[in-house]
Amino acid sequence: MNEHAASNDAVGGRILIAVDGPAASGKGTIARSLADHFKLPHMDTGALYRAVALNLWRWGGDPKSEFEAVRACDDIGSNGDDPELRSEPVSKIASVISAYPMVRSALFERQRAFAAQPGGAVLDGRDIGTVIAPSADAKLFVTASAQVRAQRRVRELLERGMPARFAEVLLDLKARDERDTGRGAAPLARADDAALLDTSEMSVEQAVAQAVRLVEARLSERHPR
Ligand code: CDP
Repeated sequence: MNEHAASNDAVGGRILIAVDGPAASGKGTIARSLADHFKLPHMDTGALYRAVALNLWRWGGDPKSEFEAVRACDDIGSNGDDPELRSEPVSKIASVISAYPMVRSALFERQRAFAAQPGGAVLDGRDIGTVIAPSADAKLFVTASAQVRAQRRVRELLERGMPARFAEVLLDLKARDERDTGRGAAPLARADDAALLDTSEMSVEQAVAQAVRLVEARLSERHPR
């Protein structure tokens, strides 16, 4: 039996993992690595909000209008690979439109259904452990200092050939943090039962290894052998 099968057996074949955290905390990389490790499907829920933002941006819609943002939720399946999804204008619009309750409910069912798959899943976002999958087997809240997150985001943008200046990226991240934590609808928050993973001082490999340890510890607490 391999390591993955052993882990799956520990919880009767179904593992649901929720990974939340602020922008550029490393949650996406961690969630993808956990999905690989536990052989589970993965959903990056931020990509849904980005896809809505990209639709709106392309139409020239107004991000200040909840009504226009809801219309932009239709037909978001087709732009999944678009490089503009991670551009700064689209990131900013995503952060604005994700505060609208009607946008969140338009995207809710597809996330809930993904989480309800018989074999389990890994989802990452802002409200997975609190709203989308409150009964997840293991929850992680991944964070890092704003300085470190801004450095990572600058590197990521430059690698994608996009312009990036540290001071602007840092300001922008802080503004997004405020919008994410301050909004009324599903604000970014650590669930009471989420394990905290601060990746400020960690390499990617260290963060992933620690995430696997934390999830395994949670799984064995919930489903002792
Ligand atoms: O990669 P990064 O953390 O910068 O952003 P993301 O995870 O791709 O999310 C894009 C935007 O969608 C964020 O600014 C959040 O405000 C929003 N979001 C959300 O409200 N709820 C989620 N479950 C996921 C993302």
